[in-house]
Amino acid sequence: MMICCLQTLLLLGAQLLLSLAAPTLPNNFFYHDYLKGNGNKEIHFSGVKLHVDSAQPSVFAVRGGNATMPCRFWYEPELSSPRGVRVKWSWRPAAGGHETDVLVAVGLRSRSFGAFRGRVQLRQDSPGDAALVMSNLLLNDTGSYHCEVVDGLEDRSTSVNLELRGVVFPYQHPGGHYHLSFPGAQRACEEQDSTLATFTQLFQSWKEGLNWCNAGWLADGTVQYPITRPRVPCGGHAVTPGVRSYGRRHLHLHRYDVFCFSSSLRGEVYYLQPSHKMNLTEAQQACQEDGAEIAKVGQLYAAWKLTGLDHCDAGWLSDGSVRYPITKPRIHCGPSEPGVRSFGFPPPQHKHGVYCYKSGG
Ligand SMILES: *[C@@H]1O[C@H](CO)[C@@H](O)[C@H](O)[C@H]1NC(C)=O
Ligand SMILES: *[C@@H]1O[C@H](CO)[C@@H](O)[C@H](O)[C@H]1NC(C)=O
Ligand SMILES: *[C@@H]1O[C@H](CO)[C@@H](O)[C@H](O)[C@H]1NC(C)=O
Repeated sequence: MMICCLQTLLLLGAQLLLSLAAPTLPNNFFYHDYLKGNGNKEIHFSGVKLHVDSAQPSVFAVRGGNATMPCRFWYEPELSSPRGVRVKWSWRPAAGGHETDVLVAVGLRSRSFGAFRGRVQLRQDSPGDAALVMSNLLLNDTGSYHCEVVDGLEDRSTSVNLELRGVVFPYQHPGGHYHLSFPGAQRACEEQDSTLATFTQLFQSWKEGLNWCNAGWLADGTVQYPITRPRVPCGGHAVTPGVRSYGRRHLHLHRYDVFCFSSSLRGEVYYLQPSHKMNLTEAQQACQEDGAEIAKVGQLYAAWKLTGLDHCDAGWLSDGSVRYPITKPRIHCGPSEPGVRSFGFPPPQHKHGVYCYKSGG
C-alpha cells in the first residue's frame, strides 16, 4: 500500500516535471488526447474538451438574399481566458465537384476566396460564434458548408446545408425534344435566368407534384424525370411514382431536355399588350419601349411560383416560346392544376401579347 502510493506520488511528480519541461505549443497548452474514439465533435486536452456545433442542419434562403450559416464552438469546462482559434469555412457544391475554400479567420482577421470574396464574413457576435454570414446569394451557392475550428493540433467541425427556395422547370431547346448536351443544357438554363437543377431541388418539386415525362439533365450530370401519375407513355401504369433516373450519361454525346432552377427576382414580370397583338420582333420592342426587357422563361416561372403571377393570355418570351402562368385554374385557362402553360415555339410572325421583365432597384 505504502509502496504503491509512494510510487504514484513519484510518478505524478515526474509527470509534473515533464509537463513543465515539455516544449509548449505556440498557443501555450500541453496537448494530451485522453480519450480515443470519443466521437468526432469533441477533443480533450489538459482535460478540456473543444465542441463545435451548428444549431440547424439546413438553412433556407432566396437568390439575392442573405443567409447565416450557424456554427458555434465552446470548451468544457469553460476556459478562464479566451484562446486563439482558426476558423475555416469550405463548401461542397450541391452540383457535385471539389470542396473549395470560402473563408479563413484567425482572431478578427479573415480572408475570403474566389466567388465568395466580398460576399461572406464571420459573425463573431459573442465568444465562440463562428457563423458565416453570406450576402447576395447566387443560384449556384447551394450545397454543404463545412465549419472547421482548429485549436492547436486538433480540429472539430460541423456542416450546414444551404438550400434556396425557388422553382424547378423542365426546359426544351427551341430546336426540339432531346436536343441538349450537358454543356448545352447549362447554357440553356443560364440564358433563361436560371441554373441546372440539383437532384434535391428536383426531388422537392416531385414531392410538390411535378409530373414530367421527358428526361432532363441535372447539375450532377445525371438524367432523370419525375413521375407523380404513372401513365402509358411514361413507362406504363405498373410503375410506381418517383424520380426515375437514367443515371450518368455522356456529357457531350447524349442529348436530352433539362431541368432548370430559378429563385426570387429583384424585378417584376408583367403581361403587356398594346392596342394590337405582336410578332416576336414587335414584342421585344414593346417591352423595350416600356423600359423593360422581354421576360426569360426562368423569370416567368419564378414570378408564377414565388409571387403568384396569374394571367390567362399567352405571351412571347425571349427564347421565342409562348406561355402563360396560372395559379388559380379556371375554365378556358388550361388544365385543372396550376402551372405555366406552353404553346411551344410558334413561328415568329404569329401574333400574341408579351411578358416583360422590369428589373427592380
Ligand atoms: C443583406 O445584408 C446586408 C448587410 O450585410 C444588408 O445591407 C442587406 O439589406 C441584406 N439584404 C437582404 C435582402 O436582407
Ligand atoms: C455561379 O453563377 C455565377 C452567376 O450566376 C457565375 O458567374 C459563376 O461562374 C457560377 N459558378 C459556378 C461554379 O458555376
Ligand atoms: C414583325 O412585323 C414587322 C412589321 O411590323 C416586320 O418588319 C417584322 O419583320 C416582323 N417580324 C417577324 C419575326 O415576323
